[in-house]
Amino acid sequence: MAMYLEQLETPVPVVDLDRLAFNLDRMAAYATLHGLRLRPHVKTHKSPRIAAEQMRLGAVGLTCATLREAEVMAEACDDLLLAYPPVGAARLERMARLPREVRIAVAADDGAALQALALAAKLSRREIDVLVEADLGMHRVGVSTPERAVMLAKQVRDIAGLNFAGLLFYPGHIRESTAAQSDKLAQLGAELARYIDALSDVGLPPRVVSGGSTPAAWRMHELKGVTEVRPGTYVYNDRTTANIGACDWDDCALTVLATVVSTAVPGQVVIDAGTKALGREPLRADGDDGFGALLDRPEVTVSRLSEEHGILDLSKTDWRPRLGEQVRVVPNHVCIVVHLFDEIVGVRGEAVETRWPVAARGRGATYEDAREGPTGPRAV
Ligand SMILES: Cc1ncc(COP(=O)(O)O)c(C=O)c1O
Repeated sequence: MAMYLEQLETPVPVVDLDRLAFNLDRMAAYATLHGLRLRPHVKTHKSPRIAAEQMRLGAVGLTCATLREAEVMAEACDDLLLAYPPVGAARLERMARLPREVRIAVAADDGAALQALALAAKLSRREIDVLVEADLGMHRVGVSTPERAVMLAKQVRDIAGLNFAGLLFYPGHIRESTAAQSDKLAQLGAELARYIDALSDVGLPPRVVSGGSTPAAWRMHELKGVTEVRPGTYVYNDRTTANIGACDWDDCALTVLATVVSTAVPGQVVIDAGTKALGREPLRADGDDGFGALLDRPEVTVSRLSEEHGILDLSKTDWRPRLGEQVRVVPNHVCIVVHLFDEIVGVRGEAVETRWPVAARGRGATYEDAREGPTGPRAV
């Protein structure tokens, strides 16, 4: 029997399947058109089903941040990049337990992590590719000079079980609209060229140069040397991405369906989506503050939050919703919202068509698992 949005218990994340398909297609087309290899970051959807669709559309592999993501995505893909520092015995041991047929690459910025990584390679009877991570403006992780990149690449080359594969950077500091990114991209491109030249000069030219993020993805082909892009947010997009100008409002595929649960306080409307449905993420772009905005009325924002309550700001609208009315909130940061739910509902128009689990949410290692490992954390 057909089911419709109005029958769903709220709050619940709903994905417009047509918009999702459009977003997946558009990025795949961009990458193909420019000869870039697409390795989407799965942190946004955490779903092997969407990952399989990304692979079907031509992705060369997937990017993961957590071992839980890698474990789940190994079902959909045999070529994984762990774009997170490979530090800590428990993390490395889980990496070693990934299925043998899965090719693994990791991003590293410190030589101290390499010997342990080589042990993980040995444990898992495979070689591990290493991408030297460079800090090209984000100032989060990554070596800060081409000389350090060369030192690290040489260390990788000299350790049995590890292969130096190339360079990785994350341009997360580029958050202007696509058209306004020229200055930052030029600066980044010049820096990147210094890294590529330095490595090539010592006989270690990077085979892979992995970059990209959703806001900067559309211009990555302008950077000389980039071979691969790793956007993640593009599958669903969100209010921040739209306000930056990296997607249209109509490309926001995921909304949190919520219900008006109180209008008792004069001038105020309360929905059942609070921090436990929307997170408390700021809008990282120009625009009214607030923790999300209504899909059909972007001028209406969620101005205050408790755990299970969201207060709508109606100061810019004459619309007055009635008790029990449903609204759809475009969140500021969709990756956080996905991580808050067990399941996503797929809709076409008002009709519920499918559901899928957020299979890779959480960390996935229990205290008992960690105790059992030979090098995992010990019990007190
Ligand atoms: C290392 C790395 N690569 C790629 C991405 C994907 O970027 P975006 O979320 O802008 O699509 C992220 C996002 O956090 C990241 O940390």
